[in-house]
Formats: sequence, structure tokens, C-alpha cells
Amino acid sequence: MNPLELADARPGPAFTVTFDGRAVDALPGQTVAAALWTAGVTAWRSTRGSGRPRGVFCGIGVCFDCLVTVNGVPNQRACLVPVRPGDVIRAQEGTGGTND
Ligand code: FES
Repeated sequence: MNPLELADARPGPAFTVTFDGRAVDALPGQTVAAALWTAGVTAWRSTRGSGRPRGVFCGIGVCFDCLVTVNGVPNQRACLVPVRPGDVIRAQEGTGGTND
């Protein structure tokens, strides 16, 4: 069963964002992480030292594993940031700075 049916949710119309240049469908009220998960993307950051993949770990804004770049701003917690129409989302390497 679709989880939206269980909650009797009636979200607004879907819209599109991009993740690393790929079109991703999203719904109003979703976080960036939820939209990426729905699109089958589970990792979008690599660690500073070893470049290991990371995505959502805690899901509540505590661990910072889910950092992502949204509209050119690095270090956004994907599990907390609401996705907006037209967002340009990019995977983040290291600290997200230009000197990494
Ligand atoms: S998953 Fe832990 S801060 Fe986002």
C-alpha cells in the first residue's frame, strides 16, 4: 500500500529538482533526503579523509552524515531541508568548500 494512502495525505502537485544534473521528482513537504531516497539515491556525500559514501544516518539533524549542496550552498542537512521546486542539488565531497 502507498504510505500516502495510510496517512490520508493529499500533497500538492509534484515538481522537479535536479541531483547532479539528473531530473528528480519531488512532492511538497518532502525533505531533500526524502526526494533523493524516492529517486533511489541513498548516498550523496563522501567523507573528507577516505572518501567513503554517506547519506542519511540519524534522519533527525544530529549526525551530519547527510550533508549536501543545495543551490550552491554546501553543508545543508538533507534530512531537514525542505525540497523546493527547481532546487539544484549536488553531491558533496569533503567539507564542500572549494579548496577540498
Ligand atoms: S541524517 Fe543525520 S543529520 Fe541528517
